[in-house]
Amino acid sequence: MDIDWAALRAAAVDVAGRAYAPYSRLRVGAAGLTADGLTVTGCNVENASFGLTLCAECGLVSALHATAPATPAARAAVPTLIAVAVVAGDGDPLLPCGRCRQLLLEAGGPALLVDTARGPVALSELLPAAFGAPDLSARSDSRVDREAH
Ligand code: THU
Ligand code: ZN
Repeated sequence: MDIDWAALRAAAVDVAGRAYAPYSRLRVGAAGLTADGLTVTGCNVENASFGLTLCAECGLVSALHATAPATPAARAAVPTLIAVAVVAGDGDPLLPCGRCRQLLLEAGGPALLVDTARGPVALSELLPAAFGAPDLSARSDSRVDREAH
């Protein structure tokens, strides 16, 4: 699928205008494109209890799940992001923090393209050697328990 990076960045700039960031004064907007051509967005939402702040990407991932197709079959499949643009209020790309890289990994996989000042880069480059769901299925106690019986 052709990715309209200018449109994606514009959507991120637009939603950054809805940020609630009275403490840091850093407005952040995130826009993502799904495999089926849907655009989802999110903005950062801060809190007087600072550690509770939600990054813009958290809102984006929530919107991704909230707007996924409603049929049971479609709901069973994990919605997939293919491209993400994150910007600060000045309109320039902002690299996702570590937690958000991990969230994006689960929503788009290592091939997810992330807009940066030097162009789109794969998430695998921003979060190499990542922990992921396969580590759970391969190494959790439940597997050990199963093998013991
Ligand atoms: N922020 C994001 O929205 N996304 C990130 O990945 C990095 C940080 C926000 C959180 C907080 O409201 C502000 O930027 C300053 O840290
Ligand atoms: Zn973050």
